[in-house]
Amino acid sequence: MFDVKNLTVKYQNSDNDAVCGVSFSLKAGSFTGLVGESGSGKSTIVSTSLGLLPKGAETKGEMFFEGKDILRMREDELRTIRWKEIALIPQSALNSFTPVITIGHHIKEVLAEHSNMIGNKAEDKVDGLLVEVGLDASIKNRYPHELSGGQKQRAAIALALACSPSLLFADEPTTALDVVTQAGILNLLARLRKEKKLTVLLITHDLPMAATICDKLLVMKNGLIVEEGTPKEIICNPQDAHTKALVNAILN
Ligand SMILES: Nc1ncnc2c1ncn2[C@@H]1O[C@H](COP(=O)(O)OP(=O)(O)O)[C@@H](O)[C@H]1O
Ligand SMILES: [Mg+2]
Repeated sequence: MFDVKNLTVKYQNSDNDAVCGVSFSLKAGSFTGLVGESGSGKSTIVSTSLGLLPKGAETKGEMFFEGKDILRMREDELRTIRWKEIALIPQSALNSFTPVITIGHHIKEVLAEHSNMIGNKAEDKVDGLLVEVGLDASIKNRYPHELSGGQKQRAAIALALACSPSLLFADEPTTALDVVTQAGILNLLARLRKEKKLTVLLITHDLPMAATICDKLLVMKNGLIVEEGTPKEIICNPQDAHTKALVNAILN
């Protein structure tokens, strides 16, 4: 459903490519981990997928979503797939809510703008989304600062799911959370993926965490995918020197 071929991305005024000739594909319904240290190019792949690279960034290669090349879509075409087909839980989700707007209002704005849903229908949808991510519907009346980190992350997931996307990018969704809360969020993503037949790309620097939940891993370093395989293949028999070092770090 999502096929990246030889993708290269270069930011304006930058000497090096942030992503250098990366290829991978996501099968419908799969749960894939994109794992790599900070600065390896993970978020750049996410921004490219949503047509959200900053001005002046250059791309090469192809990125097919349901057969159409995202790199060659016009802005109005991109708008028809963002939220409704491909949605993002952004890297800084915990800080991405506007402080003076309630959680319910955030979700209703997205429903109105991208799904033309307003009034009682939108109100019911907000309640349903919050319950679906394990929150009480009354959370909709709260402001972002009135939520714990875990609740905020769940609300960010509800927001991403508002327009029923088929592909979900979760960029470091558990990084700022304690271990117990992390496990809750990962279980939630796994459950939603099953229930909604979502295709999920989990982006993280945490190889052991990704290995416990994903069915396939892509390991990135310096803008390249250096290794790919099932968690078992990668943990038991890493091929690349960088992955070997990561795996040794877990085992020791
Ligand atoms: N807006 C930007 N302008 C210029 N360079 C950027 C920008 N965003 C990221 N980069 C650079 O691109 C590289 C990859 O970054 P990023 O995709 O954010 O990595 P990751 O998400 O794996 O931490 C880094 O060298 C980073 O400094
Ligand atoms: Mg990142």
